[in-house]
Amino acid sequence: MNQPAVVEENKNNVVDVEAPAYVRHRRLIEWVQRVASLTKPDRVVWCDGTQAEYDRLCEQMVAAGTMKKLNPAKRPNSFLACSDPSDVARVEDRTFICSERREDAGPTNNWIDPKEMRSTLDGLFDGSMRGRTMYVVPFSMGPLGSPIAHIGVELSDSPYVATNMRIMTRMGREVFDVLGEDGEFVPCVHSVGAPLADGRKDVPWPCNDTKYIVHFPESREIWSFGSGYGGNALLGKKCFALRIASTMGRDEGWLAEHMLILGVTSPEGRKHHVAAAFPSACGKTNFAMLIPPQDLNGWKVTTIGDDIAWIKPGKDGRLYAINPEAGYFGVAPGTSEKTNFNAMATLKENVIFTNVALTDDGDVWWEGMTDTPPAHLIDWQGRDWTPELAKETGAKAAHPNARFTAPASQCPSIDPDWENPAGVPIDAFIFGGRRSTTVPLVTEARDWKEGVYMAATMGSETTAAAAGQQGVVRRDPFAMLPFCGYNMSDYFGHWLKIGERLEALDAKAPKFFCVNWFRKGDDGKFVWPGFGENMRVLNWMVGRIEGTASGEEHAFGISPRYEDIDWGGLDFTRDQFEQVISVNDAAWRDELALHDELFSKLQSGLPQALPEAKAGMEKRLAA
Ligand code: GTP
Ligand code: SPV
Ligand code: MN
Repeated sequence: MNQPAVVEENKNNVVDVEAPAYVRHRRLIEWVQRVASLTKPDRVVWCDGTQAEYDRLCEQMVAAGTMKKLNPAKRPNSFLACSDPSDVARVEDRTFICSERREDAGPTNNWIDPKEMRSTLDGLFDGSMRGRTMYVVPFSMGPLGSPIAHIGVELSDSPYVATNMRIMTRMGREVFDVLGEDGEFVPCVHSVGAPLADGRKDVPWPCNDTKYIVHFPESREIWSFGSGYGGNALLGKKCFALRIASTMGRDEGWLAEHMLILGVTSPEGRKHHVAAAFPSACGKTNFAMLIPPQDLNGWKVTTIGDDIAWIKPGKDGRLYAINPEAGYFGVAPGTSEKTNFNAMATLKENVIFTNVALTDDGDVWWEGMTDTPPAHLIDWQGRDWTPELAKETGAKAAHPNARFTAPASQCPSIDPDWENPAGVPIDAFIFGGRRSTTVPLVTEARDWKEGVYMAATMGSETTAAAAGQQGVVRRDPFAMLPFCGYNMSDYFGHWLKIGERLEALDAKAPKFFCVNWFRKGDDGKFVWPGFGENMRVLNWMVGRIEGTASGEEHAFGISPRYEDIDWGGLDFTRDQFEQVISVNDAAWRDELALHDELFSKLQSGLPQALPEAKAGMEKRLAA
């Protein structure tokens, strides 16, 4: 086994990072040296990505109390980490896009002058790794060495980050072979930023009340301070693959999107691919792994990605999508064998769970996993939990944003092309929010422009995936509000431009659909059964793509009538369908006023096509 290069030193606050011989990239080594001199870790470990290294880091975290090893008979090679109660989700109000000019970040992003931010960061990172190990984590977003992949190197003082990155990305020494002596990489610096209390003593989940998640789009750099959790800390994911990559895409003519990618094969064997953008905790992982109902004979869904898509125009004029990730960082609560059988199968082994509950036999549990909860659990904060207590106090065993980190390769529905560097050709884009009222189950846009309008004006109720108030409707354009690395108006313009280019090539452009699985009835319950039953909607969309399904035109696009959906085996009445598909004029006038609010916020640089599309809808609504 390869031993990592370890340098023990910090007497004079000068760290010698001594890179392994296989690292031949001068500029990279100098950067590691500079960051180490600033952050002053006790040691520097160059991660090689081997199983032995992963096992060793997990063992260390078990010894430090960061993780518990789960019962190997129940959940082989799996661990449970419980975070500090203050560090449980992305922090959008602490996330910054520090472009040179404020208008390049736009009104939807937090902006601070890059010079000022660098000086703040210099202060925060000065000595921030003292007493800790700095891990050098080389990773590739996209298959290693493929022409569409991009490389990053994350320097982090969190072993939790190093191990999660090994699951979520292609991580290890092979990345240095691809980089060679002078390859391009995105430098990512991460510190939990927690001072050691006394002597060498650390807490199980170090973090800091002060948090900064910072992006410098021009120099393509990421600096993250104070959080060890998810998208704040695993910098390949939202920070690189969305915020930085979206700016690369703007400059180079492609798209980095908060989208799942799936393949859908009809009973006749025709295969299509769709990419779907739903905001955080609104159903991407579930839709990507959907198992069609048995009574819909012979449909099959295969998974390419569950969170992020990089989409590039091909020579044939079609759009091709790849999943830059290698694992799933998925929402645990609500995941069960009934709702997402494929996810449950993916979680059988080699998983890191975060903030779920621990069972008495050393396994995990979360709300919704089984109908009957275990009689006793240790909750995510280490306290005793019983169903009786939960009834009394409403205490949750798992945090609502509890997550699993699991290798994509373990997913039974994984698509044979999921690592194909050429990507898969996209036939439709789907946009969807969590809306208890107003928005119909499914609507097809009449053309690209109307589709961009639909996506741009999408609203959704906020969830536990981000810190802050939950359940309030906000505009979340393209499900990218927290992830677009540049001005949202320019981003809309970029989407419109891509559409124009496809039109000029006379290529078969993807269709746009808007969905909503979350309409509620008077009893406050979801009317639509969702999950596998979403296949019925996908079935209709495929029919629309192939030109075989009918629908009814209304002010906002085209929606199916009751008889346009295949209901085989499902007892869903006309009345129930009406509850999820109806368009209420008064509610939509209010909705359009919210679109206006968004457009006035984004006024500067807003493409004219969007108010034009709106005017068309208003005219139809009035008629
Ligand atoms: P991120 O990883 O945060 O980006 O979330 P995601 O978009 O992948 O959402 P995910 O599939 O993990 O679902 C989030 C929550 O919504 C889970 O609790 C699911 O059980 C629930 N959910 C997913 N699909 C449906 C659906 O069709 N109907 C209902 N009612 N709930 C759903
Ligand atoms: C999301 O919030 O959209 C996630 C989880 O996928 S995180 O990695 O924390 O961003
Ligand atoms: Mn996500």
